[in-house]
Amino acid sequence: MDLGIRGRRAVVGGATAGLGAAIAAALAAEGCDLVLTARRGDVLADMASGLSSEHGVRASAVAADFLDRHAAAQIAAHALDAFGGVDILVLNAGGPPPVDPSATNAAGWRRAFQMLALTPIDLATRLLPGMRERGWGRIVAVGSYSIRQPVDDLAYSNGGRSALMAWMKTASRAVAADGVTLNGAFPGRHATARIEHLDRLTAERTGRAVDAVRADHLAAIPMRRYGEPAEFAGYVAYLCSDRASYQTGTFTTIDGGLLTGFP
Ligand SMILES: NC(=O)c1ccc[n+]([C@@H]2O[C@H](COP(=O)([O-])OP(=O)(O)OC[C@H]3O[C@@H](n4cnc5c(N)ncnc54)[C@H](OP(=O)(O)O)[C@@H]3O)[C@@H](O)[C@H]2O)c1
Repeated sequence: MDLGIRGRRAVVGGATAGLGAAIAAALAAEGCDLVLTARRGDVLADMASGLSSEHGVRASAVAADFLDRHAAAQIAAHALDAFGGVDILVLNAGGPPPVDPSATNAAGWRRAFQMLALTPIDLATRLLPGMRERGWGRIVAVGSYSIRQPVDDLAYSNGGRSALMAWMKTASRAVAADGVTLNGAFPGRHATARIEHLDRLTAERTGRAVDAVRADHLAAIPMRRYGEPAEFAGYVAYLCSDRASYQTGTFTTIDGGLLTGFP
């Protein structure tokens, strides 16, 4: 199926690894020009030149840290300078550290909200006017199944992501008549460095083997495996496409059946 987005200009966050890298590859395969962002500029530059030569698209890289309150301005300025406008924005970066929910602190919340809500909202707000003027735009946020079913030791993540999704839902209604959609895609457990890291931390904290921790997670997933990043990226690419033109303000979990409630 042709997603109808050849030549669209996309900004993809968290593009050096995991879900973001897979989303960048999926959009490049659909013919989108790309601005890739994350913190590691050297990795971004390699990825941009690799995707550009593999798919014949334009690709540019901008190193920025979502914890920095100037990051959104920096990324938006780079993208507008590189391509003159942005049609697709994929909001994605890293995740906050695990924490005892009875011992969170203001500094931890500030970091979580900066990375998961303030920088993404700032970036989207800078790019929305151009999308509305042109009558076409797609904003997709990578969330987490923890928004639907909070994960015990990820209070910062549960809270910060929920704030972003509340804004997305509200904004989606305000800009819907202008051809701009905002949607969320919530990963369950996909095989990336982030999930490996969290499994390792749980093993250290509980004194168990990483394989045992992982086996418990797999037992709770009806498909009995972690998802592949490409399985998640395919759905995000669809949300970014012309095919998804009547879908806005939605939040879908891609989790191999992990959650027991409605998605
Ligand atoms: N994998 C899953 O199944 C899963 C499940 C639930 C939620 N999530 C969430 O989905 C998002 C992506 O997950 P992932 O598994 O792809 O993670 P990942 O493999 O750790 O990749 C994270 C990406 O974000 C970038 N990043 C990290 N911190 C950043 C920061 N402060 N500013 C800008 N970029 C930053 C990293 O690149 P640099 O190091 O170059 O900056 C990397 O490209 C995360 O928020 C994660 O918590 C993932």
